[in-house]
Amino acid sequence: MKLARKLTFALLVGMCAVLAFHAHLQLEREAEFYEEDTKGDHLHFGHAIADAMREVASVEGEAAAARVLARVNEGGNPVHLRWVALGPEAGPAPASAPPEVLAEARAGHDASWTDRAAGRVYTYVPLALPGRGPGALELAESLEQQRRYSWTSSLQIVAATGAIAVISAGLAFVLGAWFVGRPIGKLIEAAQRIGAGDLAGRVDLRQRDEIGELARAMNAMADHLAAALEQLRHADRLATVGKLASGIAHELGTPLNVITGRAMMIRPGDSSAEEIAENARIVVEQSERMTKIIRQLLDFARPRRPEKAPADLAAIARSTIHFLTPLAEKRRVELALLEPGAPPTASVDAGQIQQVLANLVMNGIDAMPAGGPLAISIAAVRARPPEGRGAPEGRYFRIDVRDAGAGIAADVQQHLFEPFYTTKAPGEGTGLGLSVSHGIVREHGGWIAVDTAVGHGTCFSIFLPAEEAGVMEGRECAGVS
Ligand SMILES: Nc1ncnc2c1ncn2[C@@H]1O[C@H](COP(=O)(O)OP(=O)(O)OP(=O)(O)O)[C@@H](O)[C@H]1O
Ligand SMILES: [Mg+2]
Repeated sequence: MKLARKLTFALLVGMCAVLAFHAHLQLEREAEFYEEDTKGDHLHFGHAIADAMREVASVEGEAAAARVLARVNEGGNPVHLRWVALGPEAGPAPASAPPEVLAEARAGHDASWTDRAAGRVYTYVPLALPGRGPGALELAESLEQQRRYSWTSSLQIVAATGAIAVISAGLAFVLGAWFVGRPIGKLIEAAQRIGAGDLAGRVDLRQRDEIGELARAMNAMADHLAAALEQLRHADRLATVGKLASGIAHELGTPLNVITGRAMMIRPGDSSAEEIAENARIVVEQSERMTKIIRQLLDFARPRRPEKAPADLAAIARSTIHFLTPLAEKRRVELALLEPGAPPTASVDAGQIQQVLANLVMNGIDAMPAGGPLAISIAAVRARPPEGRGAPEGRYFRIDVRDAGAGIAADVQQHLFEPFYTTKAPGEGTGLGLSVSHGIVREHGGWIAVDTAVGHGTCFSIFLPAEEAGVMEGRECAGVS
């Protein structure tokens, strides 16, 4: 049940309980008041009639008093009067009331009793008639009218309570949905977005209450997470640069040697003008080559803001291969790119995708300690995102990174994308590569799939959303058999 509905329901139950309790007390008080009022009327009326009967009996005899009583009972009087004997000769049940009430009357006091089962009130006014022994005037009146009144009041209270409940429930529901349900819904959406790795969205709530504070705290948390994530990615890039360092140093050695040799040949007097020009050209060319290698490395390591723009995935793969070739050669791994037919253009952050490719290629290199082939291929496919992503089948670019290494055992496979999970020796792996790559690809609306066979090799497939048409049907990652 939604929170707003729960609050409305709780409010409604509480309100109905208070109103019902109040109505019950009020009806009880009214019933008591009515009864007391009736008894008071009976006493006034009873004493007046008793005095009259006593008078008539003393002057005209007991039969005349009985006639007075009969006349009083005529004419639709709601109170029925009769004289009841209370002496020992009266028998076991001379009057309607229980013995203790009659004992009061016999002792000369006024007495009253309510027969709840029959719904009648009885009042006894002591009245001894000459020749008939001790007795009392019994006044009996039905409570039917009071019960009808109570019933009508109950109905009115129920109707009023119902109307109040409906109006209050409507108001509480609308206000609850607006002040609680709607902002909580936004917070849930934001939490789900953050859980799915989208740290860019913000919760827009301007409420100055606890929910508004929670929204602001969530936005601050997303900012901190984004900053921490960027630091993690930067650390992963620096770790890659560290691994490449010795290969790069080696790569710079050759042009440096060429530059030194050619510079020495430029000494005046040793060479002709043409030879000097040629040597100078070679020095410039080799310097440019070194500058390019260093710029590539700096570009890769530099912290930067992620920015998506249409980019050729094949060009990114090509530059990654170029960038990693010194390391691969040192490890006797042959890098190859199977060029796609049409240029696969996707809206991506080129630097981030290069980071993902570098991680996968370096994992492949590490998986082949004795060297071997490592191929990158790109294809446009129709594919269905993994369960739980809530995205329909669509067009994607699939970049396969395929090695002929040791493969991945089942117990390692379940931890592959966990941050800091590594099977490498301390100092050789941070365990960040795949988790960082997973986050980057996810932020691009894609995912990474693994196909591996122990002893045969592994194929990591990066799926990235493709815009344009011209898609071939998705085929399984080839190369791992
Ligand atoms: N192509 C592969 N072949 C075999 N095992 C792999 C492959 N790619 C990843 N793994 C396994 O997955 C683990 C986690 O990889 P991940 O890239 O996240 O971290 P790492 O490579 O250990 O460390 P780093 O990336 O910081 O060098 C690796 O330690 C390795 O056991
Ligand atoms: Mg790695």
